[in-house]
Amino acid sequence: MNTFKDLPKITTHVLQAMKQRGEKIAMLTGYDYSMARLLDEAGIDVILVGDSASNVMAGHKTTLPITLDQMIYHASSVMRAVDRALVVVDLPFGSYQGNSKEALSTAIRIMKESGANAIKLEGGKEVLESIDRILSAGIPVLGHLGLTPQSINKFGTYVVRATEKEEAEKLKDDARLLEDAGCFGIVLEKIPAALAGEVAREVEIPVIGIGAGNEVDGQVLVLHDMLGLQQEFSPRFLRRYNNLHDSIIRSFDAYIKDVKSADFPNENEQY
Ligand code: KIV
Repeated sequence: MNTFKDLPKITTHVLQAMKQRGEKIAMLTGYDYSMARLLDEAGIDVILVGDSASNVMAGHKTTLPITLDQMIYHASSVMRAVDRALVVVDLPFGSYQGNSKEALSTAIRIMKESGANAIKLEGGKEVLESIDRILSAGIPVLGHLGLTPQSINKFGTYVVRATEKEEAEKLKDDARLLEDAGCFGIVLEKIPAALAGEVAREVEIPVIGIGAGNEVDGQVLVLHDMLGLQQEFSPRFLRRYNNLHDSIIRSFDAYIKDVKSADFPNENEQY
């Protein structure tokens, strides 16, 4: 029987080859050692240490408050767990927009201090100088277009993006720019499926979708959402593979009851 340890280590070249042979790429977010071990054991291709940690790990309303030190903490915890998956880390808000030198030093800190394999950042033309500089240091870059949560204050809502021709054309231009710059892939978030499919067919690098339909080269979801750890966030694109919220609450209820009734610990559970 094959185990996950027999599977090839995922590199950006492996992802490229997967696209070429039409094999879909499975990506999930991960922020801590224990979950990253499970993700790697299950054979996930890519773990994204997303700045969604700001929401699901720290309880912030947006991805903006998370700091570089906090991203490095999450990324190093994930790296200690992973043998096979490619680990990509988000550059946090404010650490790369408008200053390509700062972008490079942020990326270098992440790579040096966490041992991650690649970084991701949001945006197209407007962050191209940062992307160029990071790539020239030999750091693989994953782009992110469409709904870019770090720009929430500019857009004001998390609705589907690029539904109008002008925004769709800009997104296609940006995707070509990212490919030409040398990004190894692009995340497309919450855009019409037909547009995402068009981009995926046009560029040669892998396109990973979240709320971007099925005509792309792979999918990513936020771990806590797909496991059903919380129930408030229910966008149409989210498929829940578990209901950990209810399952965990049931375990906590049972524990509380056992402690209160002095049923726990019993004779076999003590020294
Ligand atoms: O931070 C994140 O989790 C992400 C995904 C939604 C793609 O960027």
